[in-house]
Amino acid sequence: VNKAAIPFNLSLDPEAFDSVPGSKHMLRYLSDVESIFSDKQTVAEILAQDDPLIYEYWEIPNESSSSALSFGLTRILPGTVGQEYHMTRGHFHTIEEDGDELYFVLQGRGVILLQTRESENRALEMTTGSLCYVPAGWGHRSVNCGAADLVFVSIWPLTVGHDYEVVEQGGFPQLVVRGSDGPMVIGNPNFLDYKAIIGSRSLSK
Ligand SMILES: [Fe+2]
Repeated sequence: VNKAAIPFNLSLDPEAFDSVPGSKHMLRYLSDVESIFSDKQTVAEILAQDDPLIYEYWEIPNESSSSALSFGLTRILPGTVGQEYHMTRGHFHTIEEDGDELYFVLQGRGVILLQTRESENRALEMTTGSLCYVPAGWGHRSVNCGAADLVFVSIWPLTVGHDYEVVEQGGFPQLVVRGSDGPMVIGNPNFLDYKAIIGSRSLSK
C-alpha cells in the first residue's frame, strides 16, 4: 500500500481546494490570454483601460502513485471579448503522455470545443449537472456562453502532459460567438490544424 495515498473528501468550492496542501490556484487575466481572442482591436481597447479576469482554476496534482488521478476546479467568468465568449486557452494532451479527461459541470452554461490531430471537431453543450467525456487525442477548450459563471470539475490521469502551444498557434476550428438569437458556433477563418502547426515547427528546426 502506498502510504501517500490517503483517502480524503472535499467540498467542490474554491476555499476547500485552496486548503488542500500542494493545490495550485491560477488566475488568467485578459493580458495572459489575449492571443486566444480573434477581435484584436477590441482586445487592445479593453486592455487600454482594464485587465479583466477571464477565468481561474484550482489544480490538485496527485502524485501518490502512477495510476493516480489529478483534478481541478475551473471558473470562467461570464462575458465576451468582441463577439466571442470568454474561454480557456485550451490544449492538447501530448502524444507521448496522452490520456482521457472527464468534465463535470457544477454550474452554468457553455460549450466545450474539441478537435483531433486529424482535423475532426465537435462542439458539445456544457449544462449544470452534465458530464463531458474527452477521449485521448481530442484537444479541448471550454467556453462560457451563459449569463453567470461556468464552473466545472475536471479529472485526468497524473501522467497526462499538456501541449498549449499548438492551440496557441492554430486556435480551434470553431468559435463561439454572441449572435442576435444567442450563442452561435461558427467556423474559425484563422484556424490552422495540428499538422499545419507541427509541420511548421519541424520546418523551423
Ligand atoms: Fe486536458
